[in-house]
Amino acid sequence: MSESENLKREICELKRANNAVILAHNYQVEDVQLAADFLGDSLELSRRAASLEQEVIVFAGVKFMAETAKILSPAKTVLLPRLDAGCPMADMITVDELRALKAAHPAAMVVTYVNSSADIKAESDVCCTSANAVQVVRSVPAAEIIFIPDRNLGSYVQSQVPEKKLHLFDGYCYVHDRFKTEEIEATRARFPGAVVIVHPEVRPEVIALADEVLSTSGMLRTVKASPAREFIVATEHGLLQRMMRENPGKAFIPAGTVKVCSNMKRTSLRDVRDSLRDRQYAITVDPRVAEAAGRALREMLQYG
Ligand code: 13P
Ligand code: SF4
Repeated sequence: MSESENLKREICELKRANNAVILAHNYQVEDVQLAADFLGDSLELSRRAASLEQEVIVFAGVKFMAETAKILSPAKTVLLPRLDAGCPMADMITVDELRALKAAHPAAMVVTYVNSSADIKAESDVCCTSANAVQVVRSVPAAEIIFIPDRNLGSYVQSQVPEKKLHLFDGYCYVHDRFKTEEIEATRARFPGAVVIVHPEVRPEVIALADEVLSTSGMLRTVKASPAREFIVATEHGLLQRMMRENPGKAFIPAGTVKVCSNMKRTSLRDVRDSLRDRQYAITVDPRVAEAAGRALREMLQYG
């Protein structure tokens, strides 16, 4: 039996013994995607975390995702297999910077992308993900919004909700911010019939060239349902691997160079096994922070 087969078998046994479940984000390495009980985007995984029966959740993703699961399911043990799997964007804004924005715009409501720390969520009115950001901003009862921390997602939401005024912060995703207009144009020139789909964390000038702007699972649903055979995809490479696996008759072309989030790729199958076996690393959130952050997260779950 190969090492990977052995690990998979061990993982299955440990899951049963620990009454555990594995949630994994669409950007995880392929082995981990295949070992997951639920594979999805941030919104799907948050919803799933809030409604699971198992006692232990192994979260194969980055820290803010495991933290979100712990806040939504405080009685459960939430394990992050790698403590060094963080999201640099989530660390770009500090509580003091958010408080300064609130002081500068006292009439505004704070809409916070889930790619943020629990401390920041605790100071927010409502959270959002890339899948529901437009809907959340459109629906909240305020004409003025402080939208943090992603400037690219914020500017996309502003373009979709022109009737509201968004105050943006200067955060960004180092993976998505690297897509360039020239990459989209050159790839389109090689595949003129392909549909261009991009994640809203890419820059506004890249969004301007797209046929569709979608969250990772929104992309999956779209390519599955579309009669088109070729897609140029601007997001982290793990999602393209899932698309290829699940849509064998279709072609998925990276928009320019392959872009990889090293944080998402840290977790291996062995880390998942170790996490289950040694119950590491259990996520904890200060109860007062968790209560306030939980309000903003549950508020989000009411929206689509
Ligand atoms: P999704 O919510 O679209 O899966 O994106 C999460 C993320 O980290 C994007 O970089
Ligand atoms: Fe964070 Fe970007 Fe990695 Fe997503 S892809 S986890 S936003 S750094």
